[in-house]
Amino acid sequence: MEVAEGFERFFQGGASYFKLEPTGYLLTALGSGAAVQGEWALDLGCGNGRNALALASLGYNCIAADISPSSLLVLERELSTSSWLERHEHGKIFPLIASATCLPIRSSILSVAFCGTILSCLDFPEIDLCLSELNRCMLESAKLIISDFSDKDPGASAEKQIEASECASEIKTYFTAESLTTALEKNGFDLTDFSECWKYDASHGKPHYHSMYRLTALKRNKVKK
Ligand SMILES: C[S@@+](CC[C@H](N)C(=O)[O-])C[C@H]1O[C@@H](n2cnc3c(N)ncnc32)[C@H](O)[C@@H]1O
Repeated sequence: MEVAEGFERFFQGGASYFKLEPTGYLLTALGSGAAVQGEWALDLGCGNGRNALALASLGYNCIAADISPSSLLVLERELSTSSWLERHEHGKIFPLIASATCLPIRSSILSVAFCGTILSCLDFPEIDLCLSELNRCMLESAKLIISDFSDKDPGASAEKQIEASECASEIKTYFTAESLTTALEKNGFDLTDFSECWKYDASHGKPHYHSMYRLTALKRNKVKK
């Protein structure tokens, strides 16, 4: 089964492992980073949109992009039922059905782009395409924040056995530190923060751990002649 099809089924079920709590590292990497009015952010592979909601609550206009139309329906349902928009000082959220390798964003508008376990849904030529698309859509010195699976994750050695990790069957690439940092460098980003962690996951099934890399990089400025 294709990765996108797997997620489409998952979100059609309406359930989400993720609830609405944002990825901790996104908030850490942004620091006290409220948006300057009118700034744009992208939550790529947004799933139920939990991180798009966090970005919008910081004041960003946030494009919530995903290849799975059903994931965006989950987000739209949340926006319409929770009165979230009334409860927060916020920017706006723009749900967008899009492939990570071909973003329908015409110009360089993004101040922040977040990739939460989306790059691992791609394989290597696609990861380079995705990073170069992100670079094209980002302003100079804009921040790219990534949280994704390392090759130490239990799913990496499980040969797609779902028991080892709920993600194992959906993941195309478990990263080595080198493969991820080299891809960033090659596609015009300068790394400013890198760490690895074991993330405890008790949200479903038997509690387990995931091995994650967390990175922040800035879009490299063009040298002015
Ligand atoms: C593991 S989920 C992570 C969801 C969300 N980022 C979060 O942290 O809750 C990966 C998401 O990436 C989306 N996805 C997978 N392949 C994609 C692609 N080629 N282009 C865009 N989105 C994709 C899936 O539909 C899914 O919603």
